[in-house]
Amino acid sequence: MIAIRTLALALAVVGALSVQPPATDDSIWKQYFAWFQEGDPNANTPQRYRAKLIADGLPEAQADERLERLGKLSAQHRSDFVALFFNRFYTAPVAAFNTQPNAFLVRMTADLKPGTALDVAMGQGRNALYLAAKGWQVTGFDIAEKGLEVAQAEAAKRGLHITTVKSGYQEFDFGHERWDLIVFSYAWVPLADPALLERVRAALKPGGLVVIEHPAETPPAAATQGGRPPDPLDDVNTLVRAWSTGFRILRYEDTEDLWDWRIQKARVLRLLAQKW
Ligand SMILES: C[S@@+](CC[C@H](N)C(=O)[O-])C[C@H]1O[C@@H](n2cnc3c(N)ncnc32)[C@H](O)[C@@H]1O
Repeated sequence: MIAIRTLALALAVVGALSVQPPATDDSIWKQYFAWFQEGDPNANTPQRYRAKLIADGLPEAQADERLERLGKLSAQHRSDFVALFFNRFYTAPVAAFNTQPNAFLVRMTADLKPGTALDVAMGQGRNALYLAAKGWQVTGFDIAEKGLEVAQAEAAKRGLHITTVKSGYQEFDFGHERWDLIVFSYAWVPLADPALLERVRAALKPGGLVVIEHPAETPPAAATQGGRPPDPLDDVNTLVRAWSTGFRILRYEDTEDLWDWRIQKARVLRLLAQKW
């Protein structure tokens, strides 16, 4: 009697499974990424996910097929991994980076009349909040939503207004002659890419300024967990060459100094350029 009931139950489960709609790329990705985010990302290997799928009842052949699809989806969703990597910085109980405004930005903007500013890949808003406190009208964007949440919470606490947008630089609308100042502080974007530089130039008002501080080399942990930033700048004068077209270089430093995001000495690049 018990055996018949068990068999009936098993058949019902199989029946229910067989009428389930085929998994879409979107649902496959969401399930996988939800699993990936739990625990240590370094331990969450595809093989462990395969074992989990099989333990959850997926036949081995389908688990293999799922992994193959996930290989392609991971490439398409690379920015999800990068956002996860940085979100962990912004939610950690103790910050592992300099939470004060970037000193070069402070120096370069000290005597400027406040206007409109864009903070590219703004993180938790240390620079956006500094500028807003100085009277700038600031917009910042980033793919790491936890950073934006921290920035807005801090703005509310300090009675400041900043506009934050969850977006990658790839799709962000920089606009046309909109900004007096555009900030790239350790921004995870291709800083020598002519296509990006042209968008930045078009977005600046006449005479508008760009402030950049960036490591010349990518820290190993960021390179593996967050993915390498699109453009390594370790070759000599790469940044200067890139920003020499359509911009007037007002200041350039290539020096050994403390990095804001490493808190130890390493090669750091600093640039102040003006739309020309
Ligand atoms: C090293 S942090 C710097 C954050 C901030 N600018 C600062 O100086 O504290 C790099 C930031 O770039 C962001 N980022 C990475 N890829 C991005 C992309 N494709 N578009 C926009 N932001 C991105 C990350 O989420 C992270 O917040």
